[in-house]
This record gives sequence, structure tokens and C-alpha cells, in this order.
Amino acid sequence: MVFRGTWWLPLALVALTCALQCALVLGDADFESVRVLMTKDSSGKAGDPKEKYWHESTFHPHLDGRFIDHDLKYEDQQTNLTSLMQSYLSTMADLGAETWIIHGTLMGWWWNRKIMPWDSDVDVHVSADTMHFLASYYNMTIHTCRTEHAPRGKNYMLEVNPKWVNNSPEDSLNTIDARWIDMLSGVFIDITAVHRTPKRPGMMFCKDDHHYREADLFPLRDSVFEDRPVKIPYNYAELLQQEYGRVSLTRTRFAGHTFNSTSQTWTRNSKS
Ligand SMILES: *[C@@H]1O[C@H](CO)[C@@H](O)[C@H](O)[C@H]1NC(C)=O
Ligand SMILES: *[C@@H]1O[C@H](CO)[C@@H](O)[C@H](O)[C@H]1NC(C)=O
Ligand SMILES: *[C@@H]1O[C@H](CO)[C@@H](O)[C@H](O)[C@H]1NC(C)=O
Repeated sequence: MVFRGTWWLPLALVALTCALQCALVLGDADFESVRVLMTKDSSGKAGDPKEKYWHESTFHPHLDGRFIDHDLKYEDQQTNLTSLMQSYLSTMADLGAETWIIHGTLMGWWWNRKIMPWDSDVDVHVSADTMHFLASYYNMTIHTCRTEHAPRGKNYMLEVNPKWVNNSPEDSLNTIDARWIDMLSGVFIDITAVHRTPKRPGMMFCKDDHHYREADLFPLRDSVFEDRPVKIPYNYAELLQQEYGRVSLTRTRFAGHTFNSTSQTWTRNSKS
């Protein structure tokens, strides 16, 4: 009889706690909810349109301003991108999530199986099914990975844009479906889902309005990238030529770098 009149109080408390937790889960991944070292948010959030999910930093389009407040030095960018790529490939392999490299990242593979030193980001694809899987079970998960350049381990976060489910290229502010983000240096991988469309059998498209023949992507080939197993599109040479022109596959001077065919590396031209 002690609880007469107030028997509902514990229930109400449970309901309230649930509501608060759900509110947290559904909230925007804003600076306060994810920050590690920074005390000030350097994401371009304030200036971005409201419908845009990602807020790149105010000082560099390929750095996440929630995690860093300055540009990276040339060498630091390279080692951080290499670790980023390695951590992503290992983690996706562990999760059983199929992914393959594309755009400038695939071009880097073509030359020497490495990210090109002037590239400041990494691009990968996943299927729509895989994106659904990542969004359902791994959104906002943090993965600690050890790599050659980060032997003591670094934290990487997988974040999925809730607008990925709308695959219309007209939603042009949200063409990046997910990101794999280095929570210390702010570098990230753009992850884009590839969709089939009943309107054009045999063709596939991404929200960023790139179109592919299914036969140019699949079956994926096995290779190595940044010393890790990787998948690449079946017709990689054709895709690279379409995107960057035939000459891009043979030109050994580009973006202030020269390809040394002995060492198989791009080296930065000296300023003199
Ligand atoms: C990443 O950049 C930081 C500087 O921001 C540097 O100290 C570090 O060595 C770089 N490389 C890795 C893998 O963390
Ligand atoms: C992922 O989590 C963030 C932060 O809670 C949230 O804003 C976003 O909507 C979530 N994405 C999906 C696909 O649910
Ligand atoms: C190319 O790399 C080789 C081997 O590392 C080196 O000996 C050579 O000096 C390099 N060539 C140029 C032009 O830098």
C-alpha cells in the first residue's frame, strides 16, 4: 500500500530516461558531442546551409573542424592519410563490409599502390546494401587502430549522413553518404553508396551524379593499396581514362611532383 497513488512514478522515470537517451541518439553529431582535444569548433557549420549535414572546417575543405584547428604539414598529411586508409581497409574487412577505391584514390593505386602525395582526401565506394548495414549498426562507432605510422593506435569514427537514404542527386548538399574520420588530425575518407536503378538496367549511379556501367565495376578485383588488401573496380583503366583523360595514365609530372620510375614514388619538385 506504500506505493498507492504513486505507483506510476517509477514508470514515468523510465519513460523520461528513454526519451532523453533517444533524443541524444537522434541528435546532430555536433562539436560538443564528439570533440576530443579542441576547445573551439572550427567546422564551417555557422556558414553552411541548414540542410547540409557535413560541415567541413573553415580553413580546409578536406579537414573536419570538430577535430583540428589548423592545416597539416605536407609530411603529416601523408602519414595521416596513409594511416586513415589502412585503418579503414582493415576495419571494413573485419566488419565484412565490401568497399572499393575510386577517383583520385584509384589513380594513386594505378601509379604505385599509394595515395598521391598532393591528394588531401580519399574516396571509396560501397554498395547500397553495405551502406544500409553500416548505417544500421555502425553509425558513430569509434575504432582504435594501430598502423605503422601510429603504432600506439589512433581513434577513427564512422559517421553516416542520415540523408543518404535519399539518393537523388538533386539533394546536392548531401552527396557524401558517410565518412571515416581521424579524430586527431581531422582527415577523412568520403564514402559513397552506389545504387542500381530500374530505369537504366546495367547502369549504376552515386548521389554525386557519377554514373557507371555495372560491368565496369564488377566483379571487383583484388589488389593491394597502402600495404593493405583492397578491392578495385574491374575496368579500372577505362574508368580512370573517362574521369581524368588518357594522358593521366602516363604523364609523370603533375601538381608539382615528378614520378620516379626507379623508386616508384612521386617526389615533390624542389622549389629552386
Ligand atoms: C598526423 O599529424 C600530426 C600533426 O597534426 C603528426 O604529429 C602525426 O605524426 C601525423 N601522423 C600520424 C600517423 O598521426
Ligand atoms: C548518425 O548519428 C548522428 C549523431 O547521432 C546522427 O545525427 C545521424 O542522423 C545518424 N545517421 C544515421 C544514418 O542514422
Ligand atoms: C629516383 O629514385 C632512385 C632510387 O631511389 C634514386 O637513386 C634517384 O636519384 C631518383 N631520381 C631522381 C631524378 O630523383
